[in-house]
Amino acid sequence: MTKVNLIANGPLIVVGEHTVTYPDGSSEVKVTRASYCRCGKSSNLPFCDGRHKGE
Ligand code: FES
Repeated sequence: MTKVNLIANGPLIVVGEHTVTYPDGSSEVKVTRASYCRCGKSSNLPFCDGRHKGE
C-alpha cells in the first residue's frame, strides 16, 4: 500500500510505488520513497531539498 505523509511546514512524503507525471507530460516511477516540496523553495523541484528549514 502506498502511504502519503504530510510533514508540518515541510514536504509531502510518499512511501511506496507511485508514478510522478511532470508538466511536460513525461513520467517517472518511484518504487520506494520520495519527498515532494510543498514550500516552493527547493532547487530540485518537485523534490524537497531541505530548504524549507530556512537558512
Ligand atoms: S518542502 Fe522542503 S524544500 Fe520545500
